[in-house]
Amino acid sequence: MADDDHDMADNSNKNPPPLDEDDIALFKTYSSGGPYSSIISTTEKELKESSKKINELRGIKESDTGLAPPSQWDLKADEVMLTTEKPLLVARCTKIINPNTEDAQYMINVKQVAKYVVGLDDKCSPTDIEEGMRVGVDRVKHQINLPLPPRIDPTVTMMTVEEKPDVTYNDVGGCKDQIERMREVVELPMLHPEKFVKLGIDPPKGILCYGPPGTGKTLLARAVANRTDACFIRVIGSELVQKYIGEGARMVREIFQLARSKKACILFFDEVDAIGGARFDDGAGGDNEVQRTMLELINQLDGFDPRGNIKVLMATNRPDTLDPALLRPGRLDRKVEFGLPDLESRTQIFKIHTRSMNVERGIRFELLARLTPNSTGADIRTVCTEAGMYAIRARRKTITEKDFLNAVEKVIKGYKKFSATAKYMAYN
Ligand SMILES: Nc1ncnc2c1ncn2[C@@H]1O[C@H](COP(=O)(O)OP(=O)(O)OP(=O)(O)O)[C@@H](O)[C@H]1O
Ligand SMILES: [Mg+2]
Repeated sequence: MADDDHDMADNSNKNPPPLDEDDIALFKTYSSGGPYSSIISTTEKELKESSKKINELRGIKESDTGLAPPSQWDLKADEVMLTTEKPLLVARCTKIINPNTEDAQYMINVKQVAKYVVGLDDKCSPTDIEEGMRVGVDRVKHQINLPLPPRIDPTVTMMTVEEKPDVTYNDVGGCKDQIERMREVVELPMLHPEKFVKLGIDPPKGILCYGPPGTGKTLLARAVANRTDACFIRVIGSELVQKYIGEGARMVREIFQLARSKKACILFFDEVDAIGGARFDDGAGGDNEVQRTMLELINQLDGFDPRGNIKVLMATNRPDTLDPALLRPGRLDRKVEFGLPDLESRTQIFKIHTRSMNVERGIRFELLARLTPNSTGADIRTVCTEAGMYAIRARRKTITEKDFLNAVEKVIKGYKKFSATAKYMAYN
């Protein structure tokens, strides 16, 4: 019997009866949302208009102060809140006595005041409080009211990339191999950690990207940042060079602390040669601060504390100046070279950069790519911009192939003496 029912249900699902007029009328009422909806919407519109009128009459400009209009102020409630909510003191919970029991007590240390043994406020749950944590305590009974996050320098917190850059992998021409190897290290362990567990190996921790200037190292890192859901922290090497001794090292520590507090995190150190230079003795001890910063970085990479799901990317165009200790396997396992783009990649880069430009149809990008040997992605981008400049000078609305040829002539031949690629090749 049950089987029969099942069959019948199946059949009716397969051939549902066609909808008639009534059904359609019924569906239409769903979107308009009930009998009062039109009245409500007109009233809302009227409300908005009259409040706008009132504001105009009173001479209030919108967002003058960022406050709500005075008609919406609730001073009474604010007063009540001020009396009920007292400011808290910041203390550090140094020890938990009888943890995981009913009568757990907490030893707290209010800086430069005293130490107390206190209990918890009823708003705070015992699982939130750990030893060594910063906590907010009230001023009278010193009960713990609030767990606080560790103190991290605001300049470090600012390094988190919140707004995703609009660069995707499609905007990177060529570099197939590099993208592949980068994704392997960054994405695979985060998406499929079990593969590494099964084999019993630790996933690689970090990548060093190196290559001549303008070959797309920073570009690719931005594409990674765009794609990932993990927190992305971008640090520029020179930001870590600080005036006072120990500041740079402290910033490195706090960056890693911030990264560890996230579920998954990608740390990107751009232009790492600013701090990662090989150690040397100049006799005067001048550059020691920079070296200390690098040593702290090495220490954090080794991870005496478990590093969690942190991946470290570094980019530089002078790998030869880096300290060997920074590069050794176990710290940065992978080194990805960004070479000069080959013919096919150059064609692709031309296409990428002209995608948003107003160019005439049928431009032979292969020819242009053939005419620009030994040039980097940045060179090709300049060629495209210059071609646009030629078109502007001639007061044309579209860019022709002739413009591109002129631009190639100008950029590749004319700017040769600025090119750093040859120098890079000589150093490495
Ligand atoms: N493979 C590429 N595909 C598309 N555009 C590229 C590529 N390589 C470089 N470019 C262009 O060149 C510009 C500069 O590249 P990028 O900033 O990545 O250089 P870099 O390798 O970080 O150089 P540096 O070592 O000097 O920091 C990019 O903004 C991009 O427009
Ligand atoms: Mg760069």
